[in-house]
Amino acid sequence: MSQKFKVVLMTNDTVRQVADIEAECFTNPWSYDSFLSELSNPVSLTWVAMDGENNAAGFLNAYFVLDEASLNNIAVREQYRRQGVGHQLLQTAFQHCRKNGVASFTLEVRQSNTAAISLYEKLGFRKTGERKGFYSQPDEDAFLMTKRFQ
Ligand SMILES: CC(C)(COP(=O)(O)OP(=O)(O)OC[C@H]1O[C@@H](n2cnc3c(N)ncnc32)[C@H](O)[C@@H]1OP(=O)(O)O)[C@@H](O)C(=O)NCCC(=O)NCCS
Repeated sequence: MSQKFKVVLMTNDTVRQVADIEAECFTNPWSYDSFLSELSNPVSLTWVAMDGENNAAGFLNAYFVLDEASLNNIAVREQYRRQGVGHQLLQTAFQHCRKNGVASFTLEVRQSNTAAISLYEKLGFRKTGERKGFYSQPDEDAFLMTKRFQ
């Protein structure tokens, strides 16, 4: 896959773009201030995929605690979708997992979110449970999905 996008860690300079993507993609978005505070959260990493003109195309935030990773959010701006950005962001997080002895990576996803579920399954996540009523706006159950590294 050609790497048109460069994946870098979020900095003060990219928080605004990340918060804008979040607001475009989710009905219950994390705020600008939430992302800003993630910069000083020791268990949190946020990666941003930048295009050749320094525009953020998408981002991923996950928490890393002991040997467990959990995905909080991944989103790609609509005009950049189906170009491998989500795949590249997750591969970057997997590299971090492998380097740091992470054993499992978990996430929740809306049961109707076929795009995200396809991406996760392609990258080795498997459905391992359900969380009833996990989402609001609109109300929906979640699948719990897990990828194991060891
Ligand atoms: C889910 C999301 C992050 C995928 O990002 P993306 O950059 O478009 O995904 P990629 O281009 O890396 O896709 C990789 C693979 O995932 C699968 N996939 C991605 N989008 C898909 C779709 N709409 N329908 C079916 N499969 C899809 C395909 O297998 C795809 O490979 P292909 O394009 O070679 O067929 C993006 O659709 C998004 O931001 N959605 C809104 C936010 C969201 O729902 N986030 C997840 C919350 S749990």
